[in-house]
Amino acid sequence: METYRAGARSLAALSLVLALALALALLAHVVAVPARAAAEEAPLLRGDLPVRGGLALLSTTRNAAVTDVLAATRAGGCDVTLIALATRGAFRTYVPGAPPFVNAGFPSGLDASSTLVVRCAKPPPDVPDLHLLMLVTKTNALAADFAPADLVALPAEAVLPGGATLTLAEEAAEALAEMLEAARGQGFDVRVRSAYRSYAEQVSTYQYWVAVLGEAVAGQRSARPGHSEHQLGTVVDVAIASLGWGLEPALAETPEGRWLARNAERFGFVASYPQGAEEVTGYAYEPWHLRYIGRTHAGWLRVSGLALTEYLTALWDEVE
Ligand code: DAL
Ligand code: ZN
Repeated sequence: METYRAGARSLAALSLVLALALALALLAHVVAVPARAAAEEAPLLRGDLPVRGGLALLSTTRNAAVTDVLAATRAGGCDVTLIALATRGAFRTYVPGAPPFVNAGFPSGLDASSTLVVRCAKPPPDVPDLHLLMLVTKTNALAADFAPADLVALPAEAVLPGGATLTLAEEAAEALAEMLEAARGQGFDVRVRSAYRSYAEQVSTYQYWVAVLGEAVAGQRSARPGHSEHQLGTVVDVAIASLGWGLEPALAETPEGRWLARNAERFGFVASYPQGAEEVTGYAYEPWHLRYIGRTHAGWLRVSGLALTEYLTALWDEVE
């Protein structure tokens, strides 16, 4: 009997201990769940994401990695195509999808209360044909038999009055037509003096300049055969009447030249031989020599701050 009572007392004590433990566990759970939920619910970003695309101004609520911020915007239904941000007193534009060197120096971490400009949109399909991005320099040559497969003749209004027929690769010709049309809309009559040049034509062009200028100076103005971007069929030399349709650095100081410098990028054209890049390119300043590389890369080139030669070199270094 004693044994039974003692056993019953121990059982009761054990039940009490178990009940207490259970109550404590429940209490801990009740206290812990809201704390965890509160942590999960605290949004990383303040601000509304546009439902159908457009710009949004967001700010971070705590320190975060840029990758977490991008994930948070995507989770919010935003297809991010461009981000600019202000953090630690600096303003930077980020170009998603661009080669890493374009975004070099972009901060990887954000302070709390950083400000972001996010554009939500479907990026336009723009996968440029690789031949648009070929590196053609003094040391990188095209094969003598390289020629674009889709050369088309430029319309009469695009070439010099009374000039010979000129050709370009079709995509470049279409972009050129749009650019010249936009220039005409501004009252500018910009014409093409030279466009696609075959290897054989470059032989005579280069020989002509060597005869006129001597080899040293000609080398800064004219490419050796195989080394001219004109052989790509995506390059134009543009001229205007007020400069006698000549190819002059003074083009840059004319209204037409200033308009081209600001707007060519919108049509996918960039200047291959800018002022200040003579050491890099090996050629004198040629504001008239515009190469079509497509709108996307034309934009990234500007953001990168590189000369085209450097940009394409870095691009191909990454691919290879
Ligand atoms: N004037 C440029 C360098 C060319 O000949 O292609
Ligand atoms: Zn040229």
